[in-house]
Amino acid sequence: MSEISEMYTKLHAMLHNIVPDVELRYKAELAVEINRLKKEKNAVILGHNYMEPALYHSIPDFVGDSLELSRRAATTSADIIIFCGVKFMAETAKILNPSKTVLLPALKAGCSLAESITAADVRALKAQYPGAPVVTYVNTYAEVKAESDICCTSGNAVAVVKSLPDETIIFLPDEYLAGNVARETGKRIIFPSAAATPGPTMVGWRGRCEVHEKFTVKDIQTIRQQFPQVVILAHPECSPEVTAAADFSGSTSAMIRYIEQTQAPQYLLLTECSMGDNIIAAHPDKEMLRLCMVRCPHMNLITLEETLASLRENRYVIDVPEEIRQRAARAVQRMLEN
Ligand code: 13P
Ligand code: SF4
Repeated sequence: MSEISEMYTKLHAMLHNIVPDVELRYKAELAVEINRLKKEKNAVILGHNYMEPALYHSIPDFVGDSLELSRRAATTSADIIIFCGVKFMAETAKILNPSKTVLLPALKAGCSLAESITAADVRALKAQYPGAPVVTYVNTYAEVKAESDICCTSGNAVAVVKSLPDETIIFLPDEYLAGNVARETGKRIIFPSAAATPGPTMVGWRGRCEVHEKFTVKDIQTIRQQFPQVVILAHPECSPEVTAAADFSGSTSAMIRYIEQTQAPQYLLLTECSMGDNIIAAHPDKEMLRLCMVRCPHMNLITLEETLASLRENRYVIDVPEEIRQRAARAVQRMLEN
């Protein structure tokens, strides 16, 4: 059997209920060429859990959440890291492994959280709350990480906050992740301009994920009325009200593990819709409802076509100025210790 037929057969077995055959044949050809070039150039492909199902199940050497992929990026010996994810993830890979060429297949693959805060904003906050350590979500750009004491992902945010003895902690930039972490760690959340008050306090910022902010408690109630047995999982970038109304909240990989390890009649993910397809492809015995009216426009820019062009043309190279990289690396390395 040719490599293309083999790839098509594998994708067909997993995705025949989700992706029409004509598309699978075309995507199998792209995937085989990507895998050939990847070997030739000694590249590694890291794929975030939100990648579309044909890409997710064909070309990444490793898939995972932000924390898992950061760990992979830090330790790879490949010459080139292709990040099938968004820009802040590729930047984090460069921060952790600067001698590698890091490529992002679509330069416009940004993130509303990363856009919500600048390094100058962080410096102003540090002046307002002197001595308070700055915990920064990994969904930020390198200049913001460089102003931070420690980074975190949704996978270890609670552990990172718990590891700090300080009464007041600055936690940036996701308002909702901060609210969820504050609830789990028993802290009060305030926003800039409020004076620090006695007692465990987190100073938040008004950044939001443009995808997860759209899910509402009303959505959950309506869905539960129609599907009374559904188990609902919400990413911690959803509002604290939404995560409280859900059955489980965790990073993208934590949600996948939860579904793999439990037996419910139906599941629903309150996160980027592609992830539901990826889970069903790997676990056809599970039943998944889809809420696909909100999509991440950034993650969706990463396609097999763009990844092939990225490998062929060595684009788009992600660089971080060395002075910023070194300062950011301290905060990102501390993140990996938690
Ligand atoms: P995870 O770290 O949970 O994979 O989340 C990344 C992200 O961007 C979620 O929107
Ligand atoms: Fe950023 Fe939200 Fe997209 Fe994740 S889903 S990359 S947080 S915009």
